[in-house]
Amino acid sequence: MCGIFGYIGEERPLQLWLDGLSRLEYRGYDSCGVATIKNDFIFIKKQQGKILDLRTNLKNLSLEKFNIGIAHTRWATHGKPNNLNAHPHIDCGKKIAIVHNGIIENYLLLKEMLLAERHKFLSQTDTEVITHLIEKFYQGNLLGAILKCVKELKGSFAIAIISTYQPKQLIGIRKGSPLILGLTDKGQFLASDIPAILPLTKKVVYLEDEQIAILEKDKVNIFDFEGRPNRVNIERINIKEEQALKKGFPHFMLKEIFEQPEVLDKTFLLYLKKEKIHFPQLNLKESFLKNLKNIFITACGTAYHAGYLGKYFLEKYCGVNVYIDVASEFRYRNFNLPNRSLLISISQSGETADTLFATRDAKSKKIKVLSICNMLGSSLAKISDNLILTPAGPEIGVASTKAYTAQILVLILFSLYLAKIKNIISEKFYQDAIVELKAIPNLIREILGQSKKIKSIADKFSKFGCFLFLGRGINYPSALEGALKLKEISYIPAEGYPAGEMKHGPIALIDEYRAVVCIAVYDNLYEKMVSNIQEIKARNGKVLAILNYQDIQASKLSDEAIYIPRLKNQDFSPLLIAPVLQLFAYYVAKNLGKEIDQPRNLAKSVTVE
Ligand code: G6P
Repeated sequence: MCGIFGYIGEERPLQLWLDGLSRLEYRGYDSCGVATIKNDFIFIKKQQGKILDLRTNLKNLSLEKFNIGIAHTRWATHGKPNNLNAHPHIDCGKKIAIVHNGIIENYLLLKEMLLAERHKFLSQTDTEVITHLIEKFYQGNLLGAILKCVKELKGSFAIAIISTYQPKQLIGIRKGSPLILGLTDKGQFLASDIPAILPLTKKVVYLEDEQIAILEKDKVNIFDFEGRPNRVNIERINIKEEQALKKGFPHFMLKEIFEQPEVLDKTFLLYLKKEKIHFPQLNLKESFLKNLKNIFITACGTAYHAGYLGKYFLEKYCGVNVYIDVASEFRYRNFNLPNRSLLISISQSGETADTLFATRDAKSKKIKVLSICNMLGSSLAKISDNLILTPAGPEIGVASTKAYTAQILVLILFSLYLAKIKNIISEKFYQDAIVELKAIPNLIREILGQSKKIKSIADKFSKFGCFLFLGRGINYPSALEGALKLKEISYIPAEGYPAGEMKHGPIALIDEYRAVVCIAVYDNLYEKMVSNIQEIKARNGKVLAILNYQDIQASKLSDEAIYIPRLKNQDFSPLLIAPVLQLFAYYVAKNLGKEIDQPRNLAKSVTVE
């Protein structure tokens, strides 16, 4: 939530900050702003709305050059999205400007104290206390004031600061919210996430928690919150710039849906060696895995649905007890995590606040943690003692797609790996599974080839004001994810439900105005799904069914059907169903003219509770 971008170095046009910010717009997009220093004066421009509006407003200025500046794109937490609450924020003396991502939990107390000391506040944000605190503590040394300030702040923050007190320094602070530095010979950058600096440099520093970076044109110094110098660990990122571009697709979401076969192929390259599953970064001893009895899975949003599928695979193949909960609940429950348990935390960004808290909590209880994460330098990747990276590359569309299928595949591979170690599945089952899985990327290519047909069905269904998504067994989580995708980007109320529960409530909704998406592929619950479709049709509901090519029963009952290949092991069918439901949601939203990559009120990384 919220994106921050900063630069110090050789003079560059204001455009640089706006471009950097645009590459972070998926993190928040209700207002934005930029601040620079010229002639010992802080210049700030803020804008309610999108970065495009800010660009339009700054038209004449955007070619003017500056050598220092910070910029921010906001997802409002405290205070409405308007010009006053947009960042950057400035102190009373107009000497210090800051941008912030995170939440200052004790800001009301701090604000009261600062108001009593006659500081003047211009916004309703929690952020503004930071500028006034630094102003209060400043006695000729900016770092000294910042060190005092951070001790007062409770909550999570990534902050960028410029000040006319030290106009040759750009300062970044990190506690809880992500912040990376990008280094070049001609200047230094800071940003919330890699895509912002991808076209500018591949030399990065992932700032650690409780670190302060002081960037100058040609050097970087890092300190801890006690003011002690820290090592600067420079890493090279291995992501190509074009991975974060739309490559001719009208939306990132569509591009990312189409990238799924390639992402799955990459996953095999990483985790299959001579037709055997291996996880080189796993530090879990074979003896621990052999005796493993309980697995807890936690995640948020789409990653939670991948985790739900993981529960089915792990229970079925590995004979373990698997408990799953969304991280925002898991972290506050009195879970008794017995010895010989494993926590699997799943996250695309690796920065989701609740997932991080839940993971830290389990670690503090000495539970082993395995993370499945898409971002190597992320907080989750750093705090986990075991990591399986999903090689989905940068995912920019707010609605997760390719990270989801990568998470599912990794969970299947991990389940087979564990089942083999526990000696529960036979060599033949294991080998057959690998052969079948390896064919899936091509089957997805085939499904993506049906996008025109899916579009024409989506166009027809986009008139419905309410959707139910039904599935059973392994495809119940697929139904949850299908409903989430649709509501995220089209704003149509949609609910995912286990089809067997329909009679306990949702059936009351069914009439000719309800659309029901039924996942009824051939598996052990197929006949039961067919009965559910009958029940919907008997009440005039409109059915869109996801079926196997050879279907004969459900196809006759359904109003529309999308067909997918039948697998020998239908447990893997969620990998084929996901792209269908993603395309369906995409085309419904497109038909309704919605902002697909940046749906209202949502943000890609939820870095606050
Ligand atoms: C937000 C995003 C979702 C994502 C969820 C979890 O809600 O909009 O697409 O699934 O966060 O994010 P994570 O990065 O932890 O997977």
